[in-house]
Amino acid sequence: MPDNGTQRNILLGGHKLKKECFMTSTSFEDRDGQIWHNGKLGPWRDARLHVLSHALHYASCVFEGERAYAGKIFKLTEHSERFAVSARTLGFELPYSVAEIDAACNETCEANGIVDGYVRPVAWRGSEMMGVSAQDTRIHVAIATWPWPSYFSPEARMKGIRLKTSSWRRPTPETAPVHAKAAGLYMICTLSRHEVESQGYDDALMLDWRGQVAETTGANIFMLMGDGKLHTPTPDCFLNGITRRTVIDLAKARGIEVVERVIMPGELAQASEVFITGTAVEVTPVGEIDDHRYTPGDVTLAMMEDYEKAVGKQPESAASAA
Ligand SMILES: Cc1ncc(COP(=O)(O)O)c(C=O)c1O
Repeated sequence: MPDNGTQRNILLGGHKLKKECFMTSTSFEDRDGQIWHNGKLGPWRDARLHVLSHALHYASCVFEGERAYAGKIFKLTEHSERFAVSARTLGFELPYSVAEIDAACNETCEANGIVDGYVRPVAWRGSEMMGVSAQDTRIHVAIATWPWPSYFSPEARMKGIRLKTSSWRRPTPETAPVHAKAAGLYMICTLSRHEVESQGYDDALMLDWRGQVAETTGANIFMLMGDGKLHTPTPDCFLNGITRRTVIDLAKARGIEVVERVIMPGELAQASEVFITGTAVEVTPVGEIDDHRYTPGDVTLAMMEDYEKAVGKQPESAASAA
């Protein structure tokens, strides 16, 4: 079992909180474990690429973000299918079938002893050509995994995270491959995230090019409105998350109606509960967006609990916080 779970206290949203994962003191280069690269597992530190890789210069790269719970990757095949579709959207085919990617993700988890953790498949164009055109580049695929209990700490989750609207917006579907999980799109997300983190917020709410509410930098958004229904923006220019679709099904199973529609920022004032959904953040309550305040309530807690059950996690954290 590699020692990849280092934690560090950071100042987040004005509170001193413990945050796991990307905020570790050990670089992601310098770790124990195995990374699957182009068909086989190899030592973590040897999983390298050349500085003239096309993907590094021109963002010809797609990736996935998955979570394993109790030894099983949640909705693995849906993630592998999206991985293949994202690659195709960027004009290349993965050199492995969906079934082979599924098997490789499982093999990588097993090799690293990951029972509860994050899984990151990534595919990119290699260094055979240096220029905008990249027709003859090799397609590389790698899969890494590491322990990752919770994106935001339990304390932060139940307070509700603090969002601020970013000055950056999601582009039109005619401008960028908005439905692919393509690395290039995350340039806007990192800019947005850094902008609001520098003001003490946890994450950015992003509007789309029309000024409509879209999503956060790595998750979809839901609001409980006065009609007792969950409202969520129509995903016509951003990722229709696997967690989003799961939560819509879970809400419907509870008899909660879900409305997918255009949501304008002016409507944020009318929401009584807000939460975000994503593989990494799972179901995380939102306590604040700009000048609006929300308290996680029954519907948010029900969705957290149902999601934890669906993924195979014990629901104590949601229940004890209620
Ligand atoms: C920009 C963005 N939106 C939404 C999501 C949620 O997608 P999923 O639920 O499939 O993880 C993610 C995470 O992958 C994301 O990066």
